Amino acid sequence: MANDKIFIGVAWPYANGSLHLGHIAGCYLPADIFARFNRMIGKRVLMVSGSDEHGTPITVTAEKENATPQEIVDRYHKEHRENMQQLGISFDLFTRTTTENHGKIVKDVFLTLYKKGYIYSRKIEAFYCENCKRFLPDRYLEGTCPYCGNPNARGDQCDECGRLIDVKDLKNVRCRICGGTPVLKKTTHLFFALSKFEDRLKKWISGKTFWRASVLSFTRNWLESGLIDRAITRDINWGVEVPIKGFEDKRIYVWFDAVIGYLSASIEWSNKIGKPGEWEEWWRDKYARHYYFLAKDNIPFHTIIWPSILMGYDEKLNLPYDIPANEYLRLEGKQFSKSRGLAIWVPDMLKKFDADAIRYYLSINMPENKDTSWAWEDFIAKNNDELVGIYGNFIHRVLTFTYKNFGKIPERPEKLDDLDKELLKKIKKTYNRVYDDLSKCSFKKALKEIMGLAKFGNIYFDKKKPWELIKSDKKTCSATMYMCLVMVKSLAVLMTPFLPFSSNRVWSMLGYEKQVFEYSFNEAIDEKLNVGFEIPKPVPLFKKIEKEDVLKVDENVFSKLDLRAAKIMDVKDHPHADKLYLLRVDVGSLGRRILVAGMKPYYKPDEIKGKNIIVVANLKPARIRGIESNGMLLAAEDENGVVSLLDPGDVKPGSDVYIDGVDKKPVKVIEFDEFKKIEMRVDEKQRVVYNGKFLLCEGNLVTTDKSVKPGAKVL
Ligand code: MF3
Ligand code: ZN
Repeated sequence: MANDKIFIGVAWPYANGSLHLGHIAGCYLPADIFARFNRMIGKRVLMVSGSDEHGTPITVTAEKENATPQEIVDRYHKEHRENMQQLGISFDLFTRTTTENHGKIVKDVFLTLYKKGYIYSRKIEAFYCENCKRFLPDRYLEGTCPYCGNPNARGDQCDECGRLIDVKDLKNVRCRICGGTPVLKKTTHLFFALSKFEDRLKKWISGKTFWRASVLSFTRNWLESGLIDRAITRDINWGVEVPIKGFEDKRIYVWFDAVIGYLSASIEWSNKIGKPGEWEEWWRDKYARHYYFLAKDNIPFHTIIWPSILMGYDEKLNLPYDIPANEYLRLEGKQFSKSRGLAIWVPDMLKKFDADAIRYYLSINMPENKDTSWAWEDFIAKNNDELVGIYGNFIHRVLTFTYKNFGKIPERPEKLDDLDKELLKKIKKTYNRVYDDLSKCSFKKALKEIMGLAKFGNIYFDKKKPWELIKSDKKTCSATMYMCLVMVKSLAVLMTPFLPFSSNRVWSMLGYEKQVFEYSFNEAIDEKLNVGFEIPKPVPLFKKIEKEDVLKVDENVFSKLDLRAAKIMDVKDHPHADKLYLLRVDVGSLGRRILVAGMKPYYKPDEIKGKNIIVVANLKPARIRGIESNGMLLAAEDENGVVSLLDPGDVKPGSDVYIDGVDKKPVKVIEFDEFKKIEMRVDEKQRVVYNGKFLLCEGNLVTTDKSVKPGAKVL
C-alpha cells in the first residue's frame, strides 16, 4: 500500500478553562494547516483530538470555583468545540475523554499491559496532608523545581523548564489546598514499567533524524538519563476507574488516560461514520504516517510514554512518525499561562476579529523553532501592512478592476509576453517551495513564500498598468487581467491551509461551485479559469485593525466588573474552616453583605475591623464551606506569599472603583472564571495597575494596605 494516509493527533486541551492564543499557535493551527494541505494533495487524513477532562487539573478548578468537575468539563468542552469550529480547525472528530468508548478502551489498554507485566503494583511513600486528611496527587502539591529553581513548580511538571518532576524531588513542598507542609505516608500504587521499553525506544528514536532538533534532543536526553517506572494511579475520585481489584478508591493518571484518546477517538470516529473497522486503515497499515502536534511541555508524553504504551499494548499499532512540537507563544514577552490568568482568550478574540486575521498573525509568527511573542502592535502592523496591504490588496484590486471593466472573467490570451511568462514561472516556483515546506511542517516559511508571490502580483499589476491599457489597448488589458486572475486563483489555493475562510470566498468569486478544500492543491498551477463567469461585486477580504479595537479585547472584561469600596463592619471565624473569616461589610447603596474570605493567616480580626476594602460586588455568589459568600474582596499576593488587602483610601462605602478610559458597564452577575482573566498587579509604588492604567476610587489611587513585592498579583 502506498503512503496515502495521514493520521494527525493534536494535544487534548484540558477542559478547565478557555483556550488562549498560546494553545492555538502551539498546536491546533499548525495541525490544521497540515491537515488541509494533505487533504488537498490527495492524502486521506484522519485528524482527532478532544477535551482532556480528567485528573487534578479539573478537580482543582472545580474546587476553586465551587462547581462539580462535571459542570466544569461540560462548560469548557462546549466552548472548546465551538472555538475550534470558529477558528476553522478542521477536526474529523473532537471528542472528550469522559465518553464511555474512551473509558472502555483505556481500561482495555491498562488491563492488557497489566497482564503482560508492564503494569505492576508497588508500595510507595506519598505526600499526605494531615490538615486536609488526604493524599495529595501531584497537582495538589507545589514547591521549588529541582532542575531550574522555579519556586512555583507544580508537583508533576515545571512550567518554566518543562521538565517532568517526581514529587519526591520537589523542594519546599506545600499543600496547595491549605498551604501546609505535607508528610510522607505509605500507600500502594500501580506503576508503568517504562524502563522495559528503553531499548526499543532507543532503537526507534535512532531512525528519527528528521525530527525537529529541540524534540530530538529533549527526547534523547531523557533516554540517556535512564527511564524510571512511573506511577499511573492517583488518589482522586475523578478519572477512569482502575480495572484491578484493590484500587477502587484510586483513578488512572490523567496523562495515561489522555494519550490513549488518540486511539479511542479514531475508533469512535469509525463507529460514527458507520465503518467500525475503518480506524485500522490508519493504525495498522504500516505505510500510514502518524503526526502529533503539541507544544513543547507535552513532548515527553508523546515521544516516550505514548510510544511505550503502544509498544506494550499491541506492537502492530503504528508509532508516531513525526512530532513537530512547537515552542511557546509568549504574550509581549511573558509566558501565556492558563493557571496564572495571563493570556489572550480565544472567545474574546473571536468576538472582535475574523478567524483568518488571527490565523494569519499566528502563522507568520508561529513559534516553530523558538519562542515568539504576541505583540498587539505587531498584530496590527502585520494585519494592516501584510494581510490587508499586500495580499488582500492584490486580490481586491484585481477583482474590482475586472468587475468594473469586463464584468466577467476574460478570454485566455493567445500570446504571452515576458512578464506574463515570468509570472507563471514565479507561481510554479512558489508552488514547489510551498509544497515542500508544508510537507516538512515548515509553516512559517511556506506562508512567507506565498506572501512573496502576492507581492509579485502587485508588482506585475503596477508594471502592466491595466488602468492605462484599458484606454489604449483593450486586448492587452484583457490578457493582463487574465494573468492577474490566474495569480488570484493560485494564491487562493496556496493560502487555503492558512486562511480557509477568505480563500473560500475568493474561490467562489472565481466561479467555482464547490468549496476550495474540495479541489486539488494542483489547481494552484493550473492556468485554466472559468472564462466568461460573471464575477459578483467584490467586497474587501480583510479589515484594517485600529488601535482601539485591540485595547477593547482586554478591557471589555474589565468593564463588566462592578468593583466597589466597602467597609468591614464585623469579623467572625468561619465555623467550618481554619483559614476563613466571615466578614460583614457595608457596600453603601448596595447594602450589607457577608463575605467568606481566606484572610485569617494574614490579618487579625481587630486589624481589619473598620477598614475600607475593595469588593467585586457582582461576582456570582458562592457557597464556601457551607456558607454563602456574596462577593469577593481584592487582595494582592506576592511571590513570597505576602498577602495584602487593597486600600481604596478614605472613601464612602459603595463608591465605584474604576480605571480611566474604561467605561463601567457591569453585568448583573460575573462568573468567577471570567473575573480571573483580569490581571491586576502591584507596581513598585504599591499602586494597582491594570493594562497599564491605575485603579482609582473617588479620584484616589488604590494602593496596597501593607507593602508587597512589585509584580504581586491581585486576586
Ligand atoms: N491536556 C494536556 C495539556 O493541556 C495535553 C494532553 S495531550 C494528550 O497539557 F495526548 F494527552 F491528550
Ligand atoms: Zn492541606
